[in-house]
Amino acid sequence: MMEMPIEKQIENAVQTLRAGDLVVFPTETVYGLGADATNANAIAKIFALKNRPSFNPLIVHVASRSMAEELVEFNSVADRLAEKFWAGALTLVLPKKKNCPIPAIASAGLDTLAIRVPAHPIAHKLLTKFGKPIVAPSANISGKISPTEYSHISFKNIPILHGEKCEIGLESTVIDATCELPTILRHGFITEEEVIKTVGELGVVGGKIKSPGMMQKHYSPTLPVRLNITEPKADEAFLAFGNNSYCDAKYVLNLSPSGDLIEAAANLFSMLHELDKPTDFSAIAVMPIPDVGIGKAINDRLMRASV
Ligand code: TXA
Ligand code: MG
Repeated sequence: MMEMPIEKQIENAVQTLRAGDLVVFPTETVYGLGADATNANAIAKIFALKNRPSFNPLIVHVASRSMAEELVEFNSVADRLAEKFWAGALTLVLPKKKNCPIPAIASAGLDTLAIRVPAHPIAHKLLTKFGKPIVAPSANISGKISPTEYSHISFKNIPILHGEKCEIGLESTVIDATCELPTILRHGFITEEEVIKTVGELGVVGGKIKSPGMMQKHYSPTLPVRLNITEPKADEAFLAFGNNSYCDAKYVLNLSPSGDLIEAAANLFSMLHELDKPTDFSAIAVMPIPDVGIGKAINDRLMRASV
């Protein structure tokens, strides 16, 4: 069947959102499962469909900084971060404004909101045409691997805006910018080093989990995942990084043969999806990934996939 032109798909998606239903749309990080951020019933459908714990708050997506200003209070740190990284893969956690129209269910009752301006042209057009904020978690069942390609999305009866493979392939960096010294709540495409360059200094993340979504187990393939493996067992699938020419595993995917961490991040979820198809393998063994730059976000996801 011929696919509808994307403009028409977006128009239909806007109607769906207005009717209080869900749509899946591509962003530069991962595909999102979107709902009208001002409609509590629509938001409840996200939690139900994803089987997402109600204490895990959602990210509010907006088309522009000015749309964000209607929802949250900015401060000088947030100003600098937004100026530098929006539109893009940065999510800022900021205090909700008094008259903020986002219902409590979106932020799981917190008095803060996580907010981002996606750079993806389809996401941007959808937000602009809809004219209102859209809440969107990654478009996967809670705890599973985030979708970075159209083919990964398994929700039935939900319209999907069809984009190319997500360019970044790893979720946004989430920063708590409510205090003077911001803290990174979730490592992502924008690295700690880049954030420090912009704000000068980071605070220390305290003992209390401030980002309720950062549960230990997450991004889980069906097969067990073993980390820091250089010599996989004969019955294991192997996820390599850099030069693995010495390895004689039967099934190998390489995140980046040249050892490029950005390429590895873009391939991570799609290769985990690929390795997780029904096979006779006993586990997925993963080579060590350098823990620098975006490598920190890759190792964070792998650690959660392995527990
Ligand atoms: O790249 C992304 O961020 C993707 C695309 C679709 O935008 N979205 C995404 O959403 O990864 P989700 O729901 O999978 O992750 C949202 C994260 C969770 O770890 C959640 O706990 C945290 O953001 N979060 C949301 N609101 C928060 C808040 N008010 N305070 C602290 N953390 C918050
Ligand atoms: Mg997610």
